[in-house]
Amino acid sequence: EIRNIQAQEVLDSRGNPTVEVEITLSNGQIARAIVPSGASTGEKEAVELRDNDPNRYEGKGVQMAVRNVNDIIAPALIGMDVTRQREIDYRMIELDGTPNKSLLGANAILGVSLASARSASQALNMPLFQYLGGVNACKLPVPCMNVLNGGRHATNRVDFQEFMIAPHNAPNFQESIRMGVETFHALKKVLLDHKLNTGIGDEGGYAPDLKSNEEAVEFILRAIEKAGYIPGEDISICVDPASSEMWENGKYRFFKSDQSLKSSDQMVRLYEDWVKKYPIVLLEDGMGEEDWEGWDTLTKAIGNKVELVGDDLLCTNKKLLQKAIDLNVCNSILIKLNQIGTLSETLETVQLAGENNYNCFVSHRSGETEDTTIADLTVAIGAGHLKTGSGCRSERISKFNQLMRIERLLGNQATFAGINTFKNSNA
Ligand code: PGA
Ligand code: ZN
Repeated sequence: EIRNIQAQEVLDSRGNPTVEVEITLSNGQIARAIVPSGASTGEKEAVELRDNDPNRYEGKGVQMAVRNVNDIIAPALIGMDVTRQREIDYRMIELDGTPNKSLLGANAILGVSLASARSASQALNMPLFQYLGGVNACKLPVPCMNVLNGGRHATNRVDFQEFMIAPHNAPNFQESIRMGVETFHALKKVLLDHKLNTGIGDEGGYAPDLKSNEEAVEFILRAIEKAGYIPGEDISICVDPASSEMWENGKYRFFKSDQSLKSSDQMVRLYEDWVKKYPIVLLEDGMGEEDWEGWDTLTKAIGNKVELVGDDLLCTNKKLLQKAIDLNVCNSILIKLNQIGTLSETLETVQLAGENNYNCFVSHRSGETEDTTIADLTVAIGAGHLKTGSGCRSERISKFNQLMRIERLLGNQATFAGINTFKNSNA
């Protein structure tokens, strides 16, 4: 039974305020959760409530969200059975009463939602992934590691936001992380050899000033080889251009490199060319969130060859996912808890994806914390792959470390997802 709910303002990995929630049960057990925050957010994401008080944290304070937890949500939930996750989440949705959680804030609501799940798992004396996923939750994911950052996550001249490596040819998660980190370190050497900067971006990848987006892929391929692995066979590539950020009057502007404008068809041709040239297994947000027609063209062109993930397009939202299913666009959905704002709604979206043969790709945000819920969630839903940064920065590594703990705990019950986790990877 919930005895107390207490929120406070803490900091995320960019030094911006975010919401932490602490739940105390009647037996004295305490559980916490901290909410992450994005930079290249989808228009249709649930609302992250910020104070907009210019005198504190450049307006980014979250004292209103904290108050909403302490003064409105807490009194409504105290006394409830903490294992009644759906009841808790839907009570908050009702209290908020808006379609996008703009009254109480998705950051307030998600903090309570995730702290509840952790609290329940503790009360039942179960690891979080097993509480959420049951006895069959044994599949460890391929870590898609964002080793090179561009777009809104770095101040270099690379337009595309994320270049990830997927070390899939491994016997287990622990080994796949080793392959990924060795490649990450090899990439540093390759960049230094070319007198390029090895400072890192928001998600822990390098952020060198490259001449083109292609060059990013070329450097990564060289790093894979330098680390002793075979591109495509051992380690493949995933790309998130975050192209909604490039969308400008019906075209895509390469806003950080040469300022060129491309039509949707030209973007599709560029990706087709990349998929032919490079061992790419996953493309996220290849088209902008308003460009449903472009998505249709893209899906018809390469949807049978690679995993096409909708992030800003779908916002972990069941209704948007249903639209994608009806229109037959993309074949996978990015899962970010704070895009929708409760655990229960996230799991509903995951279920709808599964019923329609869409993959789920679990994701951190560019503003993260030490909270490791997404590691457990990935195993719980058997997603088979997640993205949570590169080979450094503890707000990213904490998820990898938690997955290694889960793998050890499962022992010989653990399986590793491997290449087949990527949609149409064998086509
Ligand atoms: P964000 O970016 O967390 O800054 O929104 C991540 C992504 O686009 O996948
Ligand atoms: Zn994205």
